[in-house]
Amino acid sequence: MVALDVEAGLDSNPLVTGLERQPVRSTAVVIFGAMGDLASRKLLPGIYNLAHEGGLPERIALIGVSRSSMTDEEFRASARESIDRFSRRRPDPDVLEGLLANFSYVAGSFDDDGLYVRLRDALGTLDTGLGTPLNRIFYLSTAPEFFPVITGHLGAAGLNETDEADVRVVVEKPIGYDLASARAQNDAVLEYFDESQVFRIDHYLGKETVQNLMALRFANALFEPVWNRNFIDNVQITAAEDIGIGTRAGYYEGAGALRDLVQNHMLQLLALLAMEPPTAFEANRLRDEKVKVLEAIAPPAPEEVAAMAVRAQYGEGIVAGAESVGYREEPGVAEDSRTETYVALRLFINNWRWAGVPFYLRTGKRMARKLTEIAVTLRPVPHIAFQGPDSDGVQPNQIILTLQPDEAVSVSLGAKVPGTKMQIRPVNMEFHYGTSFLSESPEAYERLILDVMRGDATLFTRNDEVEALWRIIDPILAAWAQDTETPIPEYPAGSAGPSEADALLDGRSWRRL
Ligand code: BG6
Repeated sequence: MVALDVEAGLDSNPLVTGLERQPVRSTAVVIFGAMGDLASRKLLPGIYNLAHEGGLPERIALIGVSRSSMTDEEFRASARESIDRFSRRRPDPDVLEGLLANFSYVAGSFDDDGLYVRLRDALGTLDTGLGTPLNRIFYLSTAPEFFPVITGHLGAAGLNETDEADVRVVVEKPIGYDLASARAQNDAVLEYFDESQVFRIDHYLGKETVQNLMALRFANALFEPVWNRNFIDNVQITAAEDIGIGTRAGYYEGAGALRDLVQNHMLQLLALLAMEPPTAFEANRLRDEKVKVLEAIAPPAPEEVAAMAVRAQYGEGIVAGAESVGYREEPGVAEDSRTETYVALRLFINNWRWAGVPFYLRTGKRMARKLTEIAVTLRPVPHIAFQGPDSDGVQPNQIILTLQPDEAVSVSLGAKVPGTKMQIRPVNMEFHYGTSFLSESPEAYERLILDVMRGDATLFTRNDEVEALWRIIDPILAAWAQDTETPIPEYPAGSAGPSEADALLDGRSWRRL
């Protein structure tokens, strides 16, 4: 194994100031599904960027696993190509070649016992070379049906634990298809691995702005006093995308927007926004609070679903100047598909802090633009002393967290328009990541991969949390599955979504996209 030149690239890299340079124990990362899309677009480039910043352990080995037979050299060439293409920064040839020298490849079918024997040998050779066992990370970047197959075989081959080193398993989404399958999947993984070894990824939790939500709430005295039903009128969470389903029809047809984005990413945003302050920014303390708040959301009864959830599909339209086909015309999509590409929900959190405050969530593919934001709208002032039309500008304060594409926080205030009249108009106080910190945020996967190497599960989903998330979603899925007749509303591609979603808002409006 070649030691990484961890100092390479440090001088020119502004991000290093934000990188915690804690010692990370030598680690072998085994990626199942190493030739897949996620590995090529996110994992390998993410690992490269960690190497570039000096964030990786000094000794790192990466073993790619997939079915195709390939030499180590061929795997390195393919990894090089992925990193060149998808890394957020142009790779430095020395850092890249230093990293790739530690890559190797093991071919095999995930249900083949022989694969795990070969893996054990490969890991054993690495341990011997280093003179001490490396930590192991088994990264399951595969279709979910393989999770139990792989963890079962790892367990049977004794690869789920190692003397004097930590063994961790990383599970990608989707975690289950509904509550029952999520439980079955958790049970299968936990048969051989302890919960403390399991890292379930939700890449939203690795985003800087999502973590900034906690900084905003818990590092400032300004917000927490108003963060409750007495001051907050409603919360809107939007995760709009302009992209369609690309080549993912096979997955998306069986998933739909509710499973794809709401069950995980959007409810995670809601949980972080609404949870009680944790006593420590530590894995179980934080996750305890998230579970509590998720459990306070009452799952709807079947007859309540229609009034709190709207689904829709995109029809044809124009997105960013280009014509787009409707969802049912996408390659691989059934022409009578009832899979939703848009969801809007109204949820209530039944606890002292939030009783009666509606949380409106919406997400969709092929909408007007990419925008992920949380808008917290405060109640109106109790009495407006300014008289006449000049008081029209007095609007409730809003705290807007923009997660994507421009990471920012803004607070709207009523301000006096200059002049002799007492005229009020909303103005924004803004903080932009780019200009305040003059640095590019790391990609979510970089942070999360490093956290797995350090064994810090704070930004990963615990098994009871996964179940709490599904408990909210399951009744909606069940009601929709039962209704095979009512036409699915359509929204033109490139629009802000279907008008049917307005009915959820109790007379309020969705924010402009
Ligand atoms: C993924 C979904 O989890 O998140 C995709 O499967 C979606 O459908 C993506 O496009 C959105 O992630 P981001 O980081 O671009 O907001």
